Amino acid sequence: MSQPSNMPQFVSRGPLGIVGAGALAHAVAAGWAQRAVGGEGCVQVYARTPGAGQALHDSVQASIGEPTGIGAVCLLNSIDELASVRTTVLAAKDKDLPGAAAELARYPASLPGRIVLHASGALPVSVLAPLEAAGYQIGRWHPLVSLRVKADVRAFRGVGFSLGGNEAALKRGTQLAEYMGGWVLPAIAEPSKYVQYHAAASLLAGGLSVLFEPALAAMAQALGDRDAARKGLIQLLRSVATHLGSVEPREALTGPSSRGDVDVVRSHLEELPDGGAKLYRALLPAMLDMAQDRQTLSAEDRAHIEALLSNDFKD
Ligand SMILES: NC(=O)c1ccc[n+]([C@@H]2O[C@H](COP(=O)([O-])OP(=O)(O)OC[C@H]3O[C@@H](n4cnc5c(N)ncnc54)[C@H](OP(=O)(O)O)[C@@H]3O)[C@@H](O)[C@H]2O)c1
Repeated sequence: MSQPSNMPQFVSRGPLGIVGAGALAHAVAAGWAQRAVGGEGCVQVYARTPGAGQALHDSVQASIGEPTGIGAVCLLNSIDELASVRTTVLAAKDKDLPGAAAELARYPASLPGRIVLHASGALPVSVLAPLEAAGYQIGRWHPLVSLRVKADVRAFRGVGFSLGGNEAALKRGTQLAEYMGGWVLPAIAEPSKYVQYHAAASLLAGGLSVLFEPALAAMAQALGDRDAARKGLIQLLRSVATHLGSVEPREALTGPSSRGDVDVVRSHLEELPDGGAKLYRALLPAMLDMAQDRQTLSAEDRAHIEALLSNDFKD
């Protein structure tokens, strides 16, 4: 049996619900916040850990300059209250989605047209099958973005969303994505391709963070100022992203390996701290392939650089 909701009497409940209080939940709640204070009613959040729900509430309220004022976020005491909410986003980790879906499915949809969306990039819509059996329409709503636990009202601006589900779920998912400032990616026809889609995203987002760490360490050592090093590297990253937005990756490749500057590559491998040198070595063959494809690297220079990777050099 649910307890009375933890929301002031004068705040109206909006048509959007969220299960969870992590990274995605923060972004969705913050994205809704202005609509909520604009009169469409609070986003209704069920967090199974009360402290996490309160933290989300406070940071979303603060993000819109209403730390203690009228509620953009209404915390629910029980998941059953979402049975009457028009659209609910299940913002649980992929491995927790079946459990969260089963929990909500214990409370059948109170009216037709109640839609539940999950936000996993890798999982099919069918992970929500118990909810379909309980009268909900089900769908997938995956934002192609990297989120941290932060109430950022702009988190979804310009972000592509990959959607799945029946016509009603696609329509609702599109409305929500566009309201948040996002756009809809081309549909993935085969659910078996969801994993490929998600692997591509994870390779890029995870790989960049892995590369950034030793690059930042080396740059900070060289400059003697970690903040300046970070700022400089971020601008470099932006310039690469700008090139990648308009030309093929091999055309965007720059640096001494792409030009055949063998001595500079050798000194890089000597001077980079261990972690950075290891990654540099791992990536060099792919850089050489690209540069040769583009015809900016001669076979002779390539052979010299490859020799740097030989065991003799490592010793
Ligand atoms: N983070 C990203 O960059 C990102 C980007 C795009 C899509 N997504 C997708 O968004 C979804 C959520 O990811 P996340 O990064 O937000 O995860 P997260 O930060 O780990 O948050 C997960 C939240 O779900 C809650 N939860 C789990 N099982 C629950 C249940 N049965 N009932 C109620 N709450 C439950 C957790 O509560 P407890 O704290 O109590 O465990 C936690 O608040 C995933 O499907 C992910 O693939 C994430």
